Amino acid sequence: MADTAELVTNVSDTARWVAAFRAAESARPDALFHDPLADRVAGDRGRAIVAHGPRMMRDGWNLVTRTKLIDDLIIQTIAEGCDRVINLAAGMDTRPYRLDLPAELTWIEADLPALIAEKDALLADETPRCALTRTAVDLADPQARQRFLDEALAGAQRALVLTEGLIYYLSDDDVTSLAAALARPEIAWWAVDVNNKAIVKRISKATTELLANAPWQFGPVDPLRFFADLGWTADEVEHLAWAAHRFHRLPWFMKPFTLLPQPDPRAPINQAWKPWSAVVRLTHG
Ligand SMILES: C[S@@+](CC[C@H](N)C(=O)[O-])C[C@H]1O[C@@H](n2cnc3c(N)ncnc32)[C@H](O)[C@@H]1O
Repeated sequence: MADTAELVTNVSDTARWVAAFRAAESARPDALFHDPLADRVAGDRGRAIVAHGPRMMRDGWNLVTRTKLIDDLIIQTIAEGCDRVINLAAGMDTRPYRLDLPAELTWIEADLPALIAEKDALLADETPRCALTRTAVDLADPQARQRFLDEALAGAQRALVLTEGLIYYLSDDDVTSLAAALARPEIAWWAVDVNNKAIVKRISKATTELLANAPWQFGPVDPLRFFADLGWTADEVEHLAWAAHRFHRLPWFMKPFTLLPQPDPRAPINQAWKPWSAVVRLTHG
């Protein structure tokens, strides 16, 4: 096997990894979504990360499921009156080019400078379906993040903030600080994928070498309690394994779990060993 730590030189390379899974899903005859630009933005490195990554993570069922759930959640939230989408740590996501969006919708992407520069170049000849802009910002820098949010939210009244595949690369303190920064009146919803401690431990063990330069960190025992303590309540919760089962994407060896009752993510989680991950939509106050 290649020295996998060299495949993910920094956290931004993980965006190529996700894109490679979206490209593979798009090529299926029964694809859950069609992302025609995913292969381009994934590039050779994205495909190599999939090929050399841990065997248990090679089919990407969880990332494909997460993508489909968030696609649907965005469309639902726009129908509910969302007037702006702010995609924090947008990575190589290409939703503004592929979702059925109102042309007048403002969609703002933020990510680290090198990734933004590369994405701008890769997609320079493509036309988004809405009013798209991109900003280079380190979201772990509170002052830079504040400046970005002040600008990005000017004129918005019911914004949806999306942080997909971001928070587990941050520390607990960074997530706490992000949650406080997003608690402002222009932001009506925050869509985020959460993993509990049992999942984070399992993935960290499987990716010790691959993600040596971008280790998973944030993973509380009870993610919804963590956010509730910060004033953020989940109004939509989709458990990934059960959604994947519904979408016919759950690996065979996980199917027995879905014979059990679906865990209630809102109930306090006493059994810390139980793996649990979900896409949730949070509202504040
Ligand atoms: C797993 S990728 C997810 C990308 C995208 N949201 C998606 O689902 O395809 C993680 C992303 O987080 C971005 N990221 C991590 N830390 C960041 C930070 N401090 N500021 C801005 N972006 C960050 C990386 O550059 C990368 O694009």
